[in-house]
Amino acid sequence: MTAAPAPAETPPSLYDRIGGSDGVRLVVDRFYDLMEHEPRYAPLRAMHEADLMPTRVSLTQFLTAWLGGPRDWFVARPGACIMSMHRAMPITRDTAAQWVHAMSRALVENRVEPALGAQMQQSFLRMANAMIPRVEEAAA
Ligand code: HEM
Repeated sequence: MTAAPAPAETPPSLYDRIGGSDGVRLVVDRFYDLMEHEPRYAPLRAMHEADLMPTRVSLTQFLTAWLGGPRDWFVARPGACIMSMHRAMPITRDTAAQWVHAMSRALVENRVEPALGAQMQQSFLRMANAMIPRVEEAAA
């Protein structure tokens, strides 16, 4: 009798690959620590509330869901769209670039698997560019 073929292994989710809840939290914490302490991100920091804790929690939950982990962020905000939430913000090319730069550093410094880090950077770059209001883009 021939052995039954082994079931195909389910590939790990992006959430598993980043290291689950600890992996996401470390990246988000590093991102906001950089934003908070480095003068080059001062314009981006100035857009945020004095207390960054609620945003730290929110971004951690958002990225958790976005990477295929628990969906608490979406459950707590039925119908929420991250792009719409940023539409009213006065995001400029500079602050968008600062966001992507700080996040890219946080991914590298936390030794996120290079292929996953590159994939995330590309997605964040596209999202951040799409968050710049058209008026600002036209003026640039
Ligand atoms: C284009 C560059 C971006 C800028 C300048 C920016 C700026 C901001 C600001 C000012 C806030 C409000 C925080 C506060 O009031 O303290 C915020 C919230 C938030 N941002 Fe961004 N953001 C950018 C890109 C992104 C991207 C690409 C993502 C997702 C990958 C993201 C996810 C979030 C989340 C989850 C929140 C919290 C929303 C909430 O719970 O109210 N942001 N952002």
